[in-house]
Amino acid sequence: MSGGVILAVESSCDETGVALIADGRRILASVVASQVALHAASGGIVPEVAARAHLRWIVPTLEAAWAESGVGWPDVSAVAVTAGPGLAGSLLVGINFAKALAYVRGRPLVGVNHLEGHLLAAWLADPADPDRPEPPLPALALIVSGGHTFLSLTRSPTDHTLLGGTVDDAAGEAFDKVGRMLGLSYPGGPAIAEAAGAAVRHDARFPRAWLGGTDDFSFSGLKTAARRMIAGARAEAGIPPDDQVTPLPPAIVAELAWGFQESVVDVLATKVIRAAEREGAASIVLGGGVAANRALRARVSGEAAARGIPCVIPAPDLCTDNGAMIGAAGARRLARGDRAGLDLDARPTWPLGTP
Ligand code: KG4
Ligand code: ZN
Repeated sequence: MSGGVILAVESSCDETGVALIADGRRILASVVASQVALHAASGGIVPEVAARAHLRWIVPTLEAAWAESGVGWPDVSAVAVTAGPGLAGSLLVGINFAKALAYVRGRPLVGVNHLEGHLLAAWLADPADPDRPEPPLPALALIVSGGHTFLSLTRSPTDHTLLGGTVDDAAGEAFDKVGRMLGLSYPGGPAIAEAAGAAVRHDARFPRAWLGGTDDFSFSGLKTAARRMIAGARAEAGIPPDDQVTPLPPAIVAELAWGFQESVVDVLATKVIRAAEREGAASIVLGGGVAANRALRARVSGEAAARGIPCVIPAPDLCTDNGAMIGAAGARRLARGDRAGLDLDARPTWPLGTP
C-alpha cells in the first residue's frame, strides 16, 4: 500500500464528504455535510437540488477536514474521488473539484467506485478499536444502501465477484418507501429503526422473499405487503379510507416498523451467512447505509460469531456515505497503479467488479 496521506472526496448522492486518510487505513479527518434536512421537505432527493448543495458545501467541507486533520498539502500524496455510480450532477461536482485540486497541486488523481468504497470501509481502522485487523480474505461482503443491495466474494480489496443482488428495490429504498407509508420522517431507515425500538408485542409478521437458494434479493413484494398491512391497520383504527391526514397511533406504527425491519434483517442476515459458509469465506463484511441498522448488525455479528467467522462492520457513520471509505479504496487503487486523467468523467452506472 502506498504510504502518505490521501485526500478523498465523495459527492455521489446527498452527502458531501471530504476525508484525509493515512496509509489507506487511519482516518485523520472525515467530514460529511449532510443534505438530509434539505431533502426532508420533498421526502426524497431532488437531483438538481443535491448537485447545487454539493457546490455550496464542498469548499467548507474541505476546510473543515484540513482543520480537523492537522496536516496540509505537503503531506498529501494523491487525490481520490468517487467517479460513480450515483447521480450525474452530484458526481460531477466532486470530480471537477478533485481534478482542480490534483491539477493545481500536481498530485495523482484516482477515480473510485462508490460501492468498492462502501466495501472497503471495513478496511479502515476503527477509532474505537485501532488494533482491529483487516478482514481476512476471501471476505463475503453484503453491501446494502439506498441504491444498491448485493453480495460480493471479495478475494482482494480490488477483486470482487458479484454473487447476487436485488432484482427490484434496494434494501434502503424499501426502508425509505415504507417509512413514508408509515408517516415517518425522511430518510426512512433510521426512522423505522427508531420506531421499531418502541415495539412491545413483536407480533407483526411480514413476508420474506427467499428467491429459492439464490443470492438474489427482492423487496417489492414486501413493500406491497406493507402497503396492505398499513391500510388494514388504518381501517382497524377507524381512520376512513379517504383520510390521508390522520396518523396511525405511534404504538401501531412501532409494531409495523418492527415487523418490516425484522423481515428485511432476516433475509439479509440469512443470505449473507449462508453464502459465507458455502464459499468458505474467511470473514464477513457489511457496508452501506443500511449496515448502520442496529438490528442487522446484531443479528449478523451474532450468527457469524456462533460459526467462528470473523465479522467486520464499520462504525455506523462509516456505513453511510462518507469520504473516508473513498480514501480506503483510493489507496488500494493507487497502489495497483490506477490513475485518472483530467478527462475523468462521471459514471452514473458502474457495477462493482467491472474495470
Ligand atoms: O450508503 P448510503 O448512505 O447512501 C447510498 O449510497 O445510498 O445509504 C442510505 C440508505 C438510506 O436508504 C437510509 O434509509 C438507509 O441507508 N439507512 C438505514 C439506517 N441508516 C441509514 N436503514 C436502516 N437502518 C438504519 N439505521
Ligand atoms: Zn452510498
